[in-house]
Amino acid sequence: MAAHTTAPAAVSSLLARYRTVRAATLAFTAPLSPEDMMVQSCPEASPVKWHLAHTTWFFETFVLTPYSPAYKPFHKDFHWLFNSYYNSLGDMPAKNLRSSFSRPPLDDILAYRAHVDRSIAKLLESELGTNEFDILSRITLGLEHEQQHLELAATDIKHALFTNPLHPAYNVSENPGAPSQSASSIEVGFTKFSGGLVNIGTTPDPTDPHAFAFDNETPQHKVFLQPFELASRLVTVRDYLAFINDNGYTRPELWLSEGWTTNCAEKWQAPLYWNRTDATPSGWVIFTLAGFKCLDELADTPVCHLSFFEADAFARWSGCRLPTEFEWEHATLQVLSSPTANMLETGNLHPTPTPLSSFAGGGGPASALSLQQMYGDVWEWTASPYTGYPGYKPLPGALGEYNGKFMSSQIILRGGSCVTPAAHIRPTYRNFFHPATRWQFSGLRLARNP
Ligand SMILES: [Fe+2]
Repeated sequence: MAAHTTAPAAVSSLLARYRTVRAATLAFTAPLSPEDMMVQSCPEASPVKWHLAHTTWFFETFVLTPYSPAYKPFHKDFHWLFNSYYNSLGDMPAKNLRSSFSRPPLDDILAYRAHVDRSIAKLLESELGTNEFDILSRITLGLEHEQQHLELAATDIKHALFTNPLHPAYNVSENPGAPSQSASSIEVGFTKFSGGLVNIGTTPDPTDPHAFAFDNETPQHKVFLQPFELASRLVTVRDYLAFINDNGYTRPELWLSEGWTTNCAEKWQAPLYWNRTDATPSGWVIFTLAGFKCLDELADTPVCHLSFFEADAFARWSGCRLPTEFEWEHATLQVLSSPTANMLETGNLHPTPTPLSSFAGGGGPASALSLQQMYGDVWEWTASPYTGYPGYKPLPGALGEYNGKFMSSQIILRGGSCVTPAAHIRPTYRNFFHPATRWQFSGLRLARNP
């Protein structure tokens, strides 16, 4: 008789994690109305209602349909309606039509979620037999996928609320972005790394279905690094305002060619969500998930909603450069993980200043431990293009479309943001976007050569 090859406690802890992750997605939608959840305000974004359905579709398509013979689909059309981009599974609606899905109504989507949740629980409580490894691996992948979409829901609803002429807040009871202390501008320091031959990426234990990494983080391999220096903190709004006031947006010598073309075409003058005003000393207000704030109030927070092109131009203006993804990963593995990282669970929903306490006794020689904000606040643009590591193999079948097919014309970002679930980030995690992308919480940390 077949028996679990994984300890029952590990299976029940996966079910507990499943319930926690799924509940976190719903909790995020609590302040939103059904109408809020219909909006798709830019080509990159999707309606929150679609995220709720698509994440459920993932479990239905990749776990229940292949591995649960007793499973009855919730609706005969959902298998293609909520497919995002998996061409090997068949056709799907064009992305720009997702805001037209007024039917099925939100209540049906919530019932779909509950139906799939019950079915996953039933599956995990049954005898898994010879498919156990695949079932547990795919549920683990589905949870990482759900967390990615929770972050996307946060960035998409921010854009939707900003686009609304009333500029409403996501949750007026929250106070994101407000410094918790009088944080003066902290001078940036640089930490030296000697480089050499270092390990990059990870090779999860192939016998452990819970040892998760996305395929694009694998396999672990060696990379040679020249000596480099990395900034102790992220670039702040105050730092970035100096670049704007030094005519950074109108000086072609600071920009990559494609960046300059984009800058001119889009008429950029500042990061996304910065509006000019006569009402504040700086002349700017910044939209947050708590509504507009004076730039002056956010001056010591990490600057965010930058494209790669803007981050690169700022770094050049500073006499520095962006770090490579390998430098970032190597440095992160040298520092202690920060228990105070500003990620989704803090509820700030906006980058926050570097804690002053982190610099207590500062002024001494920089050590690796003085690197701050490696996790959370903003995704950090790197100088690295998104490609497969040596020996990279996409997952087999349709799941191979998850990451591998996007390995062209995209740039790597590292470290997670203030809307990334804390359990979702790790030193080897590789995010990637087109270099003109600005709607994510994306910023930068400077690097330089010794
Ligand atoms: Fe997805």
